[in-house]
Amino acid sequence: MTQIEPKEIKIESEETRHLDSTLRPSKFSDYIGQEVIKKNLHILLTAAKERNSPPEHILLYGPPGLGKTTLAHLIAKELNANLKLSSGPAIMKVGDLAAILTNLTPGDILFIDEIHRLNKMIEEVLYPAMESGKLDIIIGKGPSARTIQLDLPPFTLIGATTRISLLSSPLRSRFSGGTYRLQYYTEPEIGTIVKNSAKILGTEIPDDAAHEIAKRSRFTPRIANYYLKRARDYAQVHKAIIDKDVVDTSLALLEIDEFGIGVSERMILDALVNTFNGGPVGINTLAAATGEEEATIEDVTEPYLIQIGMLERTPRGRKATEKAVKYFKK
Ligand SMILES: Nc1ncnc2c1ncn2[C@@H]1O[C@H](COP(=O)(O)OP(=O)(O)OP(=O)(O)O)[C@@H](O)[C@H]1O
Ligand SMILES: [Mg+2]
Repeated sequence: MTQIEPKEIKIESEETRHLDSTLRPSKFSDYIGQEVIKKNLHILLTAAKERNSPPEHILLYGPPGLGKTTLAHLIAKELNANLKLSSGPAIMKVGDLAAILTNLTPGDILFIDEIHRLNKMIEEVLYPAMESGKLDIIIGKGPSARTIQLDLPPFTLIGATTRISLLSSPLRSRFSGGTYRLQYYTEPEIGTIVKNSAKILGTEIPDDAAHEIAKRSRFTPRIANYYLKRARDYAQVHKAIIDKDVVDTSLALLEIDEFGIGVSERMILDALVNTFNGGPVGINTLAAATGEEEATIEDVTEPYLIQIGMLERTPRGRKATEKAVKYFKK
């Protein structure tokens, strides 16, 4: 029998959530970049407001820290709607999803993070809920089991994922409000985000120092905000102001080099260049040699190394570029 029990659902680690939420822009105009997505969402949201009905379901995807959760917050705010947060791994049983859906009020936004981790059975309950606002629940077991159908209040589902390829195609196709891929940011965009974040933190950062953080933060706002906070700590402890020297020193302490390469990227490149003689080497071998998870290498470490021309993906495996060999050959 399906139990319907409301319960507290947790999604992110306290620390990331705290870091992200303190620096989360509270209005769309402070959400820097992602211009195409913003234009599309503007139309979708304006039309929905005019019709006085919730917008259709939205899927946001892209690498970690680019602003998916932030967008969900801004969409809810724009619509003056409640945002209910959950995540794929937190919804373990059909009953968990049923509890969430039946507790929605009309116009609510339901945000499901890491939506690729929902299991099949739960997806199947989600389809009719997304399509026609119906929830089918089976009551009882065996011959006496029967299905009852509940009408759900109109709501908008916002799904977020870093791995769209793991989403089943029936689920993907139900996001009729659009599927939006978040792009990496440009250095000037990250520079602006860093300056804005400094303001939110009640401090200031000169242009050259903001630019230095932007250069090294892998085109990712979360990383830029993290480096800014470390520079602020450093400045506070040394009774200094945040300037380029403080940024350089605090990043050196974090072992982030001039290219923005940190400990885990360095480990990969070191193994590739020195242990495997430049490659090509299979991702699983690289993962085993460095103790990193394959998924982390594929989703987080490697895309950046490809972008800055340090690593290549070939049919025979990963290869170090000439540039990587030049910097990392021992
Ligand atoms: N366009 C932006 N403008 C200003 N700040 C941003 C922008 N995008 C992201 N940020 C900031 O970067 C941090 C991370 O963003 P967010 O939590 O939305 O990323 P995410 O895509 O949901 O990451 P994950 O996949 O790990 O959940 C937040 O503090 C957020 O405020
Ligand atoms: Mg998120």
